[in-house]
Formats: sequence, structure tokens, C-alpha cells
Amino acid sequence: MSLYTPGFDTRAVHAGQAPDPLTGAVVPPIYQTSTFIQDDVNVLRAGHEYSRGSNPTRGGFEEQLCALEGGFKAYAFASGIAAEDALLRSVLRPGDHVVIGSDSYGGTNRLLRDVWGPWGITHTAVPAGDLDAVRAAIRRDATAVLWVETPSNPHLGIADLAGWAQVAHEAGCLFFVDNTFASPALQRPLEWGADAVVHSTTKYIGGHSDVLGGAVVVSDVEFLGKPLADAVAFAQFAAGAVAGPQDCFLAARGLKTLGLRVRQHSANALEVARFLEAKALAGDGVAEVFYPGLESHPDHRLAARQMSGGFGGVVSLRLAGGEAAARRFVTATELFGLSVSLGGVESLICLPTEMTHGPLRGTPREISADLVRLSVGIEDVADLIADLERALDVVAAEALGARVEVVRPGVGAAVPAVRVQAPEAEAVEADTVAAPPAEARRESLPAPLAAVRAAVPALKFGGMHDGGRPPFGGRPSRAVGRVERGPATWSGARR
Ligand SMILES: Cc1ncc(COP(=O)(O)O)c(C=O)c1O
Repeated sequence: MSLYTPGFDTRAVHAGQAPDPLTGAVVPPIYQTSTFIQDDVNVLRAGHEYSRGSNPTRGGFEEQLCALEGGFKAYAFASGIAAEDALLRSVLRPGDHVVIGSDSYGGTNRLLRDVWGPWGITHTAVPAGDLDAVRAAIRRDATAVLWVETPSNPHLGIADLAGWAQVAHEAGCLFFVDNTFASPALQRPLEWGADAVVHSTTKYIGGHSDVLGGAVVVSDVEFLGKPLADAVAFAQFAAGAVAGPQDCFLAARGLKTLGLRVRQHSANALEVARFLEAKALAGDGVAEVFYPGLESHPDHRLAARQMSGGFGGVVSLRLAGGEAAARRFVTATELFGLSVSLGGVESLICLPTEMTHGPLRGTPREISADLVRLSVGIEDVADLIADLERALDVVAAEALGARVEVVRPGVGAAVPAVRVQAPEAEAVEADTVAAPPAEARRESLPAPLAAVRAAVPALKFGGMHDGGRPPFGGRPSRAVGRVERGPATWSGARR
């Protein structure tokens, strides 16, 4: 037996993805079938009976993902939330209690509160960075599961995986980690002591925003004297929220390039975060940036220890102008499409409190209305930064009462130009910025805004960092802000 373990990218391409033995097809076929002919009663040809129980395309994807997470077994589901539901269903009984990191996906909270709550499951949310709070929240007679996301959604908080695992196991609890944001390319929680990992494979694993899916990967831990794997396999089969063959094919194809993509997502996100942090430090429209790759992130060192190869593609920020500025910002970008979800090759932007984290509204954990989440894609980072800078300019100019027009320079130019007119009668008509080369865009776009700043000396641009409230606390009464969008003639048209 060889002692050699192939590297991550090699496993991503080959594990569970051997060529079709019948035809030699390099890509294993999609077994789009519900059932399988038997040679005699209960004599199966290749172990498959019915696709809810097993299907070769699903099995190939499960093996591939399992090899990347370093797990014992993996199970694929129809969505990330179906995977979470199946994992909880495998182990929880009425009366049980769950401790969950407080910064976590809104749908996970809805699942615990509104689906599992009526079945007698209670939960307590704790700050994921505070292990004493985690320990204190455990109820000796009831807590069965500790659950955390790291990096978390949407504040990019970091939980100490080894610490959580130790607290869980000392109390006889199972420890589950949602690894959607990092993906196994950057972090493998089973190596830090987790008992199971869940994924929304809709995100980085699928990677192209063209498939919904979820997965559970378990260690070889035992639960009530039997492998946890058996309990999850039973929930998958008996409750039946399985991933279909076509979806598994797409997820498996995505997984083959996961390492490459996530490295690019991470590199781009770090540059975007640095750009936004510079804006925050200059008091220029941004109040705060959340990204574990920034040295200023409170848990940067912990993130660097338990993640490798990057810090992921999600960056969040708070707009200095509050809710009004955040709402305007998310509609002012062009390359960043306004949409929920993340992890696809294209960049997306969203307002979590209204979109992804709606279930937390009206609770103490409601997400602040000035928070914007970016899913940074793999486009040229200069174009992404130019897009964000232009959108910040639009927000700032409109807050000053300026009239803003977005001018599309035509096919082939990635980022449209902004024409800004000062609010005073003595108008400052800035020239349309013709689409410059990508590397020059960042420098050239603020020019029209500078004209507005010069024309309105009474109003100063400023952020939280210069002590006072910024000038854009709400829409100015005489705002005539307007962004015109021309016909979608270029490939990056707003989705
Ligand atoms: C961290 C996290 N976990 C789970 C989910 C649920 O996944 P799905 O939408 O595939 O059901 C999401 C969805 O956004 C998520 O962001």
C-alpha cells in the first residue's frame, strides 16, 4: 500500500471521478435514473437499487468532497439548508438543546427557531469568540450539539475551532461546523476536532451560481453507540432530501477547480478589503471593514493559524452614511450584482438585514442596516475596485445633492463612467470619463466627485473616524440624484 497522499488539487480532480470503465469517458457520466435493474430479487448489479438510497453520480461527488474535507463519509443534499436539517435530524430528540455561534446564516437560525423549535428543540446563541460564554451556555442535561460558522456570515467573525471542539467534547456534546465560507480549500474543521462539517455547495463548491446543493461530511465519531455516519445516511435515505444526479455533476465539476478559484477569490477579496480599509481610515464613505485577512481584524492571527491559502472571498463593510448610504451603494455598483448568495465566479453585493438575514429582524441579533456584504468574484480586481469606488462616489455625490449620471461608454469597456453635476446653480460639469485602461480607472474616476467637493465647500466628506457624524445620515431633501442605466450592451449587465 502506498503511503503517499496526493495533494488537495490532485484529490479535487481525481477522487471519486475516475473515467467511465465502460466507455473510457474522461468525465464520469450523469446517471440520470431513478431506479436500477436487478439481476434477481435483491441482487443488485453495482450496489445501486433506487436513487434516493444511492446513485453513482452522487456517490462520486460524495467521495470527492469527503477526500477534500478529510472525512469518513460525505452525504449530498438538495440544498445547504436540507443538509443542515438532515444533520440535526440525525442526532436531536425533543427536549434537546443546541448552542450556536450568534453570527450565523439567517436561514440556520430560522431552521432552529421555526422548524425545530415547535418540535421541542431549544437553542442559545453565544458570541463565537467567547469560549467561556460557550461553556456557560451548555446545559448539562440537554445540550446535544454545538454549532458554529467560521468565518461567519455576515460579520466574518472567526471561531477557535480547536477551542470549541474541546468545550463540546468535555461536555459530551457533538460539534458541527458550517464550512461554507472557507470551503475545504482553506479550512478543514475535522482536522481541528469537529465531528461533522456542513456545506451549502451552492456557494464555493459549485462555484458558478448554477446549482443548489448541500453536503454533510462526518468524522468516524460514534453517536449513541453507532457511527454518526450511519445516522446521517439514514436521514438522507429515510427523509429523502437528496441531491439529484445533474446537481451532483455540476457540484463535482465545480469542486475540481475549487482550489484555483478560492485562491483567486481570496486574493481579490484581500485587495478589495485593503482598498475599503483605506477609505475607512481616510473617512471617505466607509465606516468599518470586516475581513479576517486584514491585520486589523481582531482575530487575524487565529484565522491565519486555522486557515491556509487565503481568507475567503466575502468582505463586509459598514457605510459611513448609515442605512440610506448602504441602500444606495448596493444599487450603484455595476460589476457587483445586487443579489443574495455568494461564492460564484461573479461578484455580488447585498444588504444582509433585508436579504440574507431577514429572519433575524426584530430580534436582538438583527443585522445593522448600514452593513453591506460583498461576495468578491474572480474578475480583474482593478475593475472590481473601480466599480466600488465609483459606487461610493455616487453615494457621496448624491448625499451632497448632486445630480449623478452613469454614462455607458459602450461595448468593451467594463466600468461605466460617472458624470456628476454639483447642486449649486454654478454647475460644475465634469467631463465624461472615457473608459480608461483597467489600471488607470481607480485614479481617474474620482475626478468628477472632486469637482463636487470643490463646489460645495460647506459640506465636508467625512466618516466615523474623524469624530463627527458623516454628512449623509439620510437622503438630502433636495437630492436630485439619479442614475441612468443605458441598454445592457456589455457582458457585465446588471443581473
Ligand atoms: C453559511 C451558509 N450556510 C448555509 C446556507 C444555506 O444554503 P442553501 O442556500 O444552499 O440552502 C447558506 C446560504 O446562503 C449560507 O450562507
